[in-house]
Amino acid sequence: MPLTRNDFPDDFQFGVATSAYQIEGHGFGGAGLTHWDSFAATPGNVARAENGLRACDHYNRLDEDLDLIAGLGADVYRFSTSWARVMPDGTGAANPAGLDFYERLVDGLLARGIKPAATLYHWELPQPLADRGGWRNADMPHWFADYTATLMDRIGDRLWSAAPINEPWCVGWLSHFDGHHAPGMRDIRATARAMHHVLVAHGRAIGVMRDLGMKNLGAVCNFEVSQPASDSAADRTAAARYDAIYNRFFLGGLFRGAYPAAVLEGLEPHLPQGWQDDFATIRAPLDWIGVNYYTRKLIAATDGPWPAYAEVTGPLPKTQMGWEIYPDGLRQVLNLAHEYAGGLPVYVTENGMANPDTVDVPDTARTDYLTQHLVAVQQAVADGVPVAGYFVWSLMDNYEWALGYDQQFGLVHVDFESLKRTPKASYQALAQWWHR
Ligand code: FCB
Repeated sequence: MPLTRNDFPDDFQFGVATSAYQIEGHGFGGAGLTHWDSFAATPGNVARAENGLRACDHYNRLDEDLDLIAGLGADVYRFSTSWARVMPDGTGAANPAGLDFYERLVDGLLARGIKPAATLYHWELPQPLADRGGWRNADMPHWFADYTATLMDRIGDRLWSAAPINEPWCVGWLSHFDGHHAPGMRDIRATARAMHHVLVAHGRAIGVMRDLGMKNLGAVCNFEVSQPASDSAADRTAAARYDAIYNRFFLGGLFRGAYPAAVLEGLEPHLPQGWQDDFATIRAPLDWIGVNYYTRKLIAATDGPWPAYAEVTGPLPKTQMGWEIYPDGLRQVLNLAHEYAGGLPVYVTENGMANPDTVDVPDTARTDYLTQHLVAVQQAVADGVPVAGYFVWSLMDNYEWALGYDQQFGLVHVDFESLKRTPKASYQALAQWWHR
């Protein structure tokens, strides 16, 4: 890896990211059931019906894992907190062991000189709230605000940064329209409501955290570059529609108080009554925007009902996920986020690759992927985007949602039998230049 810290702006933050359900082990410490547990228990949803009940057993191996982050020389650790661990029923009484765990996590990071960057929701919705309609329910922002207050009252004073929701597109569209993630719905009305309520919940949580005096609050969205599969007008329109749904709906809501026309043409009849009045909440001022980026999509028009598009397999080399490797896309989405977020710092809050690693073979493919994407970050900086940090997904191999345990994103290999952690070559390469 030829890059050094000197190749990036002063005070640029390097880090690694994980999420609660993917690593902690939800079967421990009094965490409540989540909609991912029931989704995974339903045949056909998740590879081999695997779930996160044990995952990486991070809950019981916290110090070992924090030492791995320190060993990397990371400035920042982006983790998520599980609503169901903090409040097993989603509302009401907190789980003392859950709050203690997150306090140990934050204090353990600070003791090692690492900045804690928390995300409040990375997809494991408490089952009792899913039973009440989950993100379709207009009370969700209210419940989410209560959870935010309960947790942040305990750890908010020691966080470096916080963001309410990881990837609103996945919470809304992927989970309620495509049905690929929990709760596995395929319903346009549910989708519209979930996409809107998730943004309202974001705004409410920002308000709660501001009232607690917290600083450095942001939003983490995922982006894909959408390119037409051909030059035809129909494919270009379809690609623009995909871009509007995937990227601009959330940016538009957060920064402009408006949803793109290309999305409203399908979703407007299904949005909750009075949705326009919620933009005052959704637009709560932010301190930064986070960009999660993995790939691009080639989009073709299809016959049939809105949104009338289909993904076409592209020609570029692909990761284990089957995602095309397209580093220039990172430069493009950083520019897009900047276009909406004005002068706010932009962080790459996730980027990385799944690769069929073994402990004996150096993961040079991952080091190459990360290097190419870090070069794209440099190009975005040269374009004038105030990119302030870059966090690799992920610290260690973990539960990759519907694909179970065989997609390996980690800088650290995890043996899911013995749970032994083994740093990979990519970890060593980063550690060489991240250490100050
Ligand atoms: C992102 C998710 C993260 C992980 C990566 C591969 O969309 O935020 O949990 O699954 O993709």
